[in-house]
Amino acid sequence: MEPLTGPIRWGIAGTGNIAAGFADDFGALGEGPIVAVGSRSAATADAFAAAHGIGRAHGSYADLAADPEIDVVHIAGLHIVHADQAVQFMEAGKHVLVEKPLALDVGEVDRMIAAARANDRFMMEAMWMRFNPAHVEAMTRIGQGAIGEVRRVIADFSFPLPFDPGHRLLDRAKGGGALLDLGVYPFNLAWWALGPPDEVHHVGHLATTGVDDEISLLCGWASGASALLTCGLRLDGPMTARIEGTEGVAEFPFPAHACASVILRRGDQVEEIVGDAPGLRHQVVEVNRCLRAGEIESPRMPWATSRAVLEHFDAIRAELGVRYGADG
Ligand SMILES: NC(=O)c1ccc[n+]([C@@H]2O[C@H](COP(=O)([O-])OP(=O)(O)OC[C@H]3O[C@@H](n4cnc5c(N)ncnc54)[C@H](OP(=O)(O)O)[C@@H]3O)[C@@H](O)[C@H]2O)c1
Repeated sequence: MEPLTGPIRWGIAGTGNIAAGFADDFGALGEGPIVAVGSRSAATADAFAAAHGIGRAHGSYADLAADPEIDVVHIAGLHIVHADQAVQFMEAGKHVLVEKPLALDVGEVDRMIAAARANDRFMMEAMWMRFNPAHVEAMTRIGQGAIGEVRRVIADFSFPLPFDPGHRLLDRAKGGGALLDLGVYPFNLAWWALGPPDEVHHVGHLATTGVDDEISLLCGWASGASALLTCGLRLDGPMTARIEGTEGVAEFPFPAHACASVILRRGDQVEEIVGDAPGLRHQVVEVNRCLRAGEIESPRMPWATSRAVLEHFDAIRAELGVRYGADG
């Protein structure tokens, strides 16, 4: 891919919660404004553009894809639209940052990777935790042996959501379920610390809507290292994480996926790692770096990792009986 020069022109596809959070945090980068937003409805796009100081509003995703003054699109819609929109935008010549989870399943990811290759476009899953400064510094220090050999990861992302069958997290038609939405964070943290697991066991519970609302995973590595990872939509979990080593522990306080600091303990020594405030902007720095370097894939959030995570999730969902779209 031809490296981009000059200001990188961003667009946003979608006008929901994460689109708003992204637009608000983007300003802190000092990289210039977001150029355009797209929505299924012109009125929604107009209102979002006005609220976030965005110059152009498109009343359809096709119009956003056809906008010649956009280099890269943040795909901020529900999981169910990630794959089709990523392919649509890449075929229109745009690079894409796709919200987590990258897609609903591995079949969709393969379609997206094929489109990225065929169109020579950048694509990355917006797993922003991997770019959060406190996480990055803590994981670097752990990699250098700050807590000895990593042997166990314990991580949770659970909260009690009032039951509403139409809520996107509980509605199967909207790609609902705890694993895809919340489980990706603890799973990515364990993967970051220990690499791809050699075995993954699960226990889960389904809501009456047919999506998983409680999942516990026990992951194992050939070394004997392990991870206990939990997520849920109907219980009050700690939403913290611990990475335990032979000589110390790293503690990720609430909310572990977006914490501002990480505590490293080693014997009597306690160190607080504090990074630049958490936010969605840090991943944008990496996307812009890749685009300026002419790289179609980030080495920090590679396609193969996003794909392999979903491969595990496909297997878990198949056993639990959680199905989406054409499989439903
Ligand atoms: N990175 C994070 O921290 C984080 C946090 C929350 C969510 N997310 C991810 O971001 C995505 C969106 O979550 P959200 O909380 O922002 O959801 P949301 O508030 O419900 O917004 C979803 C958006 O999807 C768009 N959309 C496009 N096609 C749609 C369709 N066919 N049906 C319904 N909506 C459609 C809608 O935009 P229009 O109406 O304008 O078309 C809507 O505003 C999810 O994949 C989620 O996992 C990431």
